[in-house]
Amino acid sequence: MKLTLKVWRQARPDAPGRLVNYAVDNIPSDMSFLEMLDVLNEDLIKKGEDPVAFDSDCREGICGTCGLVVNGIPHGPDRGSTVCQLHMRRFKDGDTITIEPWRARAFPVIKDLVVDRTAFDRIIRAGGFVSINVGSGPDGNAIPVPRDIAERAMDMAACIGCGACVAACKNASAALFTSAKITHLGLLPQGAPERHRRVMKMVEQMDTEGFGSCSNEGECEAVCPKEISISGIARMNRDFLKATLTRRPDSTAAGFGA
Ligand code: SF4
Ligand code: FES
Repeated sequence: MKLTLKVWRQARPDAPGRLVNYAVDNIPSDMSFLEMLDVLNEDLIKKGEDPVAFDSDCREGICGTCGLVVNGIPHGPDRGSTVCQLHMRRFKDGDTITIEPWRARAFPVIKDLVVDRTAFDRIIRAGGFVSINVGSGPDGNAIPVPRDIAERAMDMAACIGCGACVAACKNASAALFTSAKITHLGLLPQGAPERHRRVMKMVEQMDTEGFGSCSNEGECEAVCPKEISISGIARMNRDFLKATLTRRPDSTAAGFGA
């Protein structure tokens, strides 16, 4: 395949960026999208030019490190898939492909296609954990958890923290990511004692980081590689309201499930 790539190039966080055209040739259709970028970079290095900076690690949809906007869609055209799982067979010979970084004020560009997603780490640090001693594995499992609740918690735990939800949202809201973490922990008995305190702290941190508010657009769910449901956002908002009204952020009466 012969392709024209329009790639966002930006030397530094404070430098102006622009789309630069590159031609790539002899790309096999079974090559992955990131391997295609590796080929481009090898060509650039051979020519003595600066290679395109982009993030990746596992390259199998697990780690959440990769993140590119391909032709305007975070992670590209395949639903329920990360950009590292995208293959060139999805494109046609002669296509022009535009490749941009996540665009959100809370995710500033570091270089080219690499953005700073440490805002997510700070949201987790604000409360996305269980701080009580829950004992060893068997002790934890001694508490019966209804199967549907365990499955809903696992669905939310599938979030890989990639940030595509933010990139797709016109408000650059982090509500899907934050609600996935809050719901995953709040649904389980181990996470229930801190349920209200957690939601208040994590939502507060999400606002502090400069993410926008959720206006129920649903774009986040549409691009999420793990197909996290926006029902978690409703649950997060309900928990936040309850925590605010009861003013008992440490309430153990929060319970689990529901
Ligand atoms: S909710 Fe989905 S899109 Fe957002 S960070 Fe988690 S896995 Fe990525
Ligand atoms: S590189 Fe790990 S999910 Fe894409």
